[in-house]
Amino acid sequence: MNYRKFVAGFDLHGDMQDTDAVNKILSFTKEFKPDIKIFGGDLFDFRAIRRKADKAEQAESLADDVMMGQEFLRKFKPQIYLRGNHCERLWDMAEGEIGDGLKRDACQKGVQEIEDLCKKQGTKMYPYDKRRGIHREGKLLFIHGYCSGIYALRKTLTSYGESICMGHIHSNHQTTIEGLSPRKGWVSGCLCKIDYQYNRGNLASLAHEHGFLYGLLFDNGDFIVNQARKTSGDWMVSTNFKKI
Ligand SMILES: [Fe+2]
Repeated sequence: MNYRKFVAGFDLHGDMQDTDAVNKILSFTKEFKPDIKIFGGDLFDFRAIRRKADKAEQAESLADDVMMGQEFLRKFKPQIYLRGNHCERLWDMAEGEIGDGLKRDACQKGVQEIEDLCKKQGTKMYPYDKRRGIHREGKLLFIHGYCSGIYALRKTLTSYGESICMGHIHSNHQTTIEGLSPRKGWVSGCLCKIDYQYNRGNLASLAHEHGFLYGLLFDNGDFIVNQARKTSGDWMVSTNFKKI
């Protein structure tokens, strides 16, 4: 059976990226030589323009965030970029839903820059949108993620009724929903730092891990999805796919 290889990374968060995790997905991609690369959202953090940003956050520059997010986009060069909820803050402000005129102008410039880069390198971009933010590869959907908590993957699979790869919750999960055609789902770990001042008292963030997804997409729509993650301080991956 013919297949194409894929690699999918999620949750870089611009200037909050984790150098080791980023280096691992880039070096793995170089060696694995995927036919399709997907970046699944939160390329940038954009904490300064979130709706409830405090004065200190609002005062932060977006320059490093934008520069580091774009640098990853250039190096990874995905064919697909699904905007995440963090990315969407820029588009929301550029479209005038929130913020003042000066900020809106700056955000419109930022949007133009990112859209130009995507166009130049052949990256198809999807908005953060539960209906329109879906990339399909055969029987497998790729989304950023639209709910959180420990049942996020189960809820997502139940809502969409199909098999899914997603990010958003920064931890590695895999589950199957029972049925005559079982739906399978994977959540990828993140490519950003895990511990911050703001989540120091949040027990749920103890589940956060680094990781990315890779595997095979068969011509009949079937798929194999593997999770690359750190185990005992090292990243171990298995790429020797063969019939047994
Ligand atoms: Fe994220």
